[in-house]
Amino acid sequence: MRKSIVLFFSAVLAVTTSFAQSNINIVPRPVKLVASKGSLDLSKRAAAIDLSGADVSLAMFLDEFLKSKDVEAGRDPKTKGYPVKLTIAKVDTLGAEGYTLSVSKKGISIQANTEAGLFYGIQTLIQLTPLKGTKLPYVEITDYPRFAYRGLHLDVSRHMFPVEFVKKYIDLMAKHKFNRFHWHLTDDQGWRIEIKNYPQLQSTAAYRNGTLIGHAGENPERFDNKRYGGYYTQEEVKEVIEYAAARYVTIIPEIEMPGHALAALSAYPQLGCTGGPYEASMKWGVFDPVFCAGKEETFVFLEGVLDEVIGLFPGKYIHIGGDECPKTSWKACPNCQQRIKAQGLKDEHELQSYFINRIEKYVNSKGKQIIGWDEILEGGLAPNATVMSWRGEEGGIAAAKQKHTVIMTPGNWCYFDHYQDTSKTEPLSIGGLTPVREVYTYEPLPAQLTGDESKYILGAQANLWTEYIETPQHAEYMAYPRACALAEVVWSPKEGKDYINFLQRMETHLQRLKNWNVNCAQHLVKEIEYLKNPQTKK
Ligand code: ACM
Ligand code: ZN
Repeated sequence: MRKSIVLFFSAVLAVTTSFAQSNINIVPRPVKLVASKGSLDLSKRAAAIDLSGADVSLAMFLDEFLKSKDVEAGRDPKTKGYPVKLTIAKVDTLGAEGYTLSVSKKGISIQANTEAGLFYGIQTLIQLTPLKGTKLPYVEITDYPRFAYRGLHLDVSRHMFPVEFVKKYIDLMAKHKFNRFHWHLTDDQGWRIEIKNYPQLQSTAAYRNGTLIGHAGENPERFDNKRYGGYYTQEEVKEVIEYAAARYVTIIPEIEMPGHALAALSAYPQLGCTGGPYEASMKWGVFDPVFCAGKEETFVFLEGVLDEVIGLFPGKYIHIGGDECPKTSWKACPNCQQRIKAQGLKDEHELQSYFINRIEKYVNSKGKQIIGWDEILEGGLAPNATVMSWRGEEGGIAAAKQKHTVIMTPGNWCYFDHYQDTSKTEPLSIGGLTPVREVYTYEPLPAQLTGDESKYILGAQANLWTEYIETPQHAEYMAYPRACALAEVVWSPKEGKDYINFLQRMETHLQRLKNWNVNCAQHLVKEIEYLKNPQTKK
């Protein structure tokens, strides 16, 4: 790795003569931006927000922005001052999320086909304002996303995060034009969503009796012996959904099955092959006890859970997990073996496929679609499933070739629980090394796919697993600025992708993140310093 960093810096020297400064530093980079001489001084006049038929709730974001610059904003178009116009227009090239933004002496105008487009225009407008002062450069921007699915994930099972932080995480996503929040709500270490029909999920499955200290590979294992847990009430879940919706972020809830089920089994042991007893796990890994695929009771439970989840989340997708399900307990279970026989299945992989197919049918009957991790390919893909490719790109490639939609989250580029630097001072992590530059270079469309097959790649997502991440501050440190790099991967055009240009914009953007109270990792500061002054000792 060190070797590639050295090579990288030599390459930089070859192509960069100076570190160009610009007063326009939008992240993610817009499709087209033409700046002209002059600026609109927000401090001089009041602003009249003209919504032209756009949703009033958008004015909240504009108000907030204008107030932060001490600008009096009024809704009355007759107010003397420059106009801020938000217009729903019909511009085919902008699609469902694009916008145009114009800043000129006439004022500020944002046009889009949709409210979401206007929202993204406002986000760009916020980034267009200098950190200090109130002068908006004259500019004409046309912008729209490269991918429809632009996601970030957060694991709240291994460690739980307060509602306020979940909202902040979503708000930061929206500022970077992400539109899908994958909420990993259940796993072996804790069940985090209230399910009213199954109260023991709250009283038992939401808690574990302690947590591993140090890395999972350490011997002997040590535990803190502190009861740990909690869950989000349905009222809190609704609050988060509403908060996300106002920012055009759709939440994808994940209910893990058939593996990663120890917490649920601790509450309802009859759903496991042996009947238990089971305990919510205090350590990290993959565990043999899973939901029994032979008992009807398992499906009654999961359908009951899904009924409530589907009732809460308005989005089209429910993530049903499907990853890392050992087949050990199914092999030894008379009920599972009976199911294999009765269904004429070849083996336990086909039993997993039976499980996912059955759940898919149920979810589809409720008008929703399933997403599963790439293991759902094994034993045969459920007919309408979307595959989340995490063990590399292969699962995504195979699924796209089978004409299934795909979300790319390959570990090498998209696992934000990996280390981001080789320094010994980095906080303990699961392992791996995924620096910002690596994320930036990610290309979600694999070369192995034809143009037609590529259409099945909906987009990409980064995952933030939290075995080693206990606090919101630490979560932010792992997510930012890597999420800024991913935002460019999923939003900005492939043409013109340029890491040096990204770093140039990140110098200002890092300051913005600080102003937004983000505990952002600072490794780029050194890289930027080196670009500005190649004599700097690294
Ligand atoms: C995963 O990282 N187990 C999907
Ligand atoms: Zn079983």
